[in-house]
This record gives sequence, C-alpha cells and structure tokens, in this order.
Amino acid sequence: MTFEEAFSVAGVTVIVTGAASGLGLAFTEAMAVGGANVVMLDLNPRRLSTQADRLKDLGYSIESHVLNVSDRKAVDHIYDQVAATYGGIDVVFSNAGIDPGPGFAALNEDGERDPANYLEQYADVRWQKVISVSLDAVFYSIRAAARHMRPRKSGSIIVTTSVSALRPAVTLGAAYAAAKAGAAQLVRATALELASDGVRVNAIAPGPFETDIGGGFMHQDEVRAKMAAGVPMGRVADVEEIKPLALYLASRASGFVTGQQFVIDGGLSLSAARA
Ligand SMILES: NC(=O)c1ccc[n+]([C@@H]2O[C@H](COP(=O)([O-])OP(=O)(O)OC[C@H]3O[C@@H](n4cnc5c(N)ncnc54)[C@H](O)[C@@H]3O)[C@@H](O)[C@H]2O)c1
Repeated sequence: MTFEEAFSVAGVTVIVTGAASGLGLAFTEAMAVGGANVVMLDLNPRRLSTQADRLKDLGYSIESHVLNVSDRKAVDHIYDQVAATYGGIDVVFSNAGIDPGPGFAALNEDGERDPANYLEQYADVRWQKVISVSLDAVFYSIRAAARHMRPRKSGSIIVTTSVSALRPAVTLGAAYAAAKAGAAQLVRATALELASDGVRVNAIAPGPFETDIGGGFMHQDEVRAKMAAGVPMGRVADVEEIKPLALYLASRASGFVTGQQFVIDGGLSLSAARA
C-alpha cells in the first residue's frame, strides 16, 4: 500500500456530528477534500445550511441534516437512512459538544469566584445537559454506527473527548470532566468489543482550539492569551491543526489502531491540575 492509498478516504461515507462549526467543520472539510461523501449533522440549522451550501458550491459531496445528538431515536433513524443511501457507513466522528458553563474557579466580572458555580449549588439541569450531550449522545452514535459497521466487518469511529478526560479543568466543572472521561472509557470498552469484527473506535482529546464554542469567547484576544498562558507550547491551536489526525484515524493508515485516545494539546495535559 502506498502512502497515498493508506491515507485515502476517497469514496467512503462519513458522518460528522456537530459538523457546522469548529472541530466538526474541520473534520468535515478534511474528509470532503479527500473525496469522501460527508453527512453533516448539527443542531443549528442556520449555520449548518450555510456551511453545507458553501462546501457543496466548492464541489464536494455533502449532505446535511438538522439533528439533536441526544435524541436517540433521531440518531438511529438518520444512521439507518445514511447506510441505506450510501450502502453503509465507513467513518463516524461523534463530535458534537457544548460549553459546560463555568466551573468552581471561573471568575465573574469582578474577578471573583461565584459560589453559584460551586459543587453544592451545581444545578441538576446543568449536570444532565452536559452528560446528555457529551456522554449519552456518544453512546447513541457508537451504538448506531456499530449496527451498520459490525455486519460489514469494517469501520472507524472517532469520538471527540477533551484534555478534561485526563485532568479536570477548574474553569469547566465536574460534569464536563466526568462526561469526557466517561466517553474516553466508552471508546476503550466499545473498541474492545468491536475489535475482532474489524471496527475501530478511537478518541481525539483536544486542548484549547479556537472554535465558536460557548458563543465564540475564544475569539477574544484576552481569553486566548489567558488560555495560552496555561499551555506549555504557549498558544491555543487553529482548527486546521486537527485535520491530519482526523485523516489518519479515518483512513487505513491507522488500520491497526483501536481503543486509543490521541491527545492534541500543546502539552497542556503535562501540567498538573490546580485549584
Ligand atoms: N474548542 C476546544 O478548545 C475544545 C477542547 C476540548 C474538547 N472540545 C470538544 O470538541 C467538540 C467540538 O467543539 P467545538 O470547540 O468545535 O465547538 P463549536 O461550538 O465550534 O462546535 C460544536 C457544534 O456542535 C453543535 N451541537 C451542540 N449541541 C448539539 C446537539 N445536541 N446535537 C447536534 N449538534 C450539536 C453546535 O451547534 C456546533 O455547531 C466538543 O465535543 C467539545 O467538547 C473542544
């Protein structure tokens, strides 16, 4: 196999959740440019249609559907539909995620911690929302993908976790850390079950990437500078930097790799969590 053949995604069918923005959009572009048929799924109809139309105008094979990844029936339905349309599903990026809101050490406008973010006050609804999008939904996507991939004895599932899966971030809160660590272990457990049937499951654990998460706070210079200060490499990443890893995990280049979490964080996970 040549290098080119190993990294090829030409003609494969790819589903991306949270595809209208940030890392999901980068995954979409990486696959589309490589010649894949990409099905973009996202909760935000306006952003989704804007991005899907832009990529279609560039000549790429793109389909898009509005979907809430926490709606398990809708997830099953769309995965069945994609498999029927394209004759199978080869690659899934389970990526959709949300800003979990401030953690206990987040500072308010006066530069002080807000007791409303302390564990004792943490509302059930906040916990459930984060778990629903960042853990439950990952399970729904992996399960729906497995139904189509296992019979064909091939497939690659890639879950976006976070550095928070390895070390909790004081500004993001416990729910996010628990959801992402749960997703990482779900990747390992499902990889083990599916390995002998040729289906691979891996995770990408990003550090800070400049995306639109949380309404785009990462586009502010001072926010980026503050985040960069905590990263050994001294900067936050551009979404373009996720594309080579995505291509590696989606393609035959990683054909003997499963159950792994690939950290891409400028060294952030090397530093200890601090309160
Ligand atoms: N940006 C970072 O620094 C960073 C770091 C670590 C992990 N992550 C993870 O990366 C993933 C992508 O985040 P991003 O930074 O690109 O954010 P983003 O806000 O730019 O993109 C996320 C996309 O997911 C969609 N989405 C949200 N909830 C959804 C739902 N219920 N159903 C379907 N779509 C939904 C949004 O509409 C949005 O288009 C998330 O899982 C996030 O936790 C991001």
